Amino acid sequence: MRSILLFTSLVVSSSVLANSDDAYFARSTVKAFSTDLKNVLVSTMKASGPVAAIEVCNISAPAIALQHSANEWEISRTSLKVRNPNNQANEWLNSILLDFEQRKENGEPIANIEHQEQKAGAWYLVKAIPTGQACLACHGSELKPEVKNKLTELYPSDKATGFNLGDIRGAFVVKKHP
Ligand code: HEC
Repeated sequence: MRSILLFTSLVVSSSVLANSDDAYFARSTVKAFSTDLKNVLVSTMKASGPVAAIEVCNISAPAIALQHSANEWEISRTSLKVRNPNNQANEWLNSILLDFEQRKENGEPIANIEHQEQKAGAWYLVKAIPTGQACLACHGSELKPEVKNKLTELYPSDKATGFNLGDIRGAFVVKKHP
C-alpha cells in the first residue's frame, strides 16, 4: 500500500515538476512586481495624495512591468473589468478569470487561486489578485470627486471601479515565450 502511494505521488509530482522551476520563478516575479507597484503607489499616496498616485500608476505600472520582464519572460496584468484597455483579457484569459470567480465562490482563498498552462509553445502562470483596503481609493465604490475626475481624464472607458474588499481585482499573467 505504501509503495503504491509513493509511486502514485511520484507520477503525479513529476508531471507537475516538469515546470517547477518555471513556476517558482514566475511566482517570485509576481511577488517582486506586486511589491514594487505597491511601494510606488503607497509612497506617492502618502506624500502627494491619490490624484498624483494615479498619474504615477499611469506611467509607472507599464514601466515596472517591463522592468520585471526579461529574456523570454513577460509579466502583465488583466481583469474582467479593466481600467487601461491595453490590459483587456483575450477570450482565453477571460474564461480563466471567470473560472477564478467560480473557485472563489466555492470557498478557495484568493491567495491560492492560480492557473498554469502550456499553450502554443508558451507557458503561462495566471495568478489572482485580491482587492485589499489600499485598493479601494481608486477601485472601490466611493471615489473622491478629484479621483473620479482624474480617472475619467486618463481612462475614459474605465471599468475598474465598484470593487469591494475581498473581491478578485484581476490577475497577473506571467508568460514564458518559447
Ligand atoms: C492611486 C490609485 C490606485 C490605487 C490605490 C490602486 N490602483 Fe490599480 N490601477 C490604477 C491605475 C491608474 C491603473 C491603470 C494602470 C495602467 O494604465 O496600466 C490601475 C490598474 C490596475 C490593474 C490592471 C488592470 C486594469 O484594470 O487595467 C490591476 C490588476 C490593479 N490596478 C490592481 C490594484 C490593486 C490590487 C490595488 C491595491 C493593492 C490597486 N490596484 C490600487 C490606480 C490605482
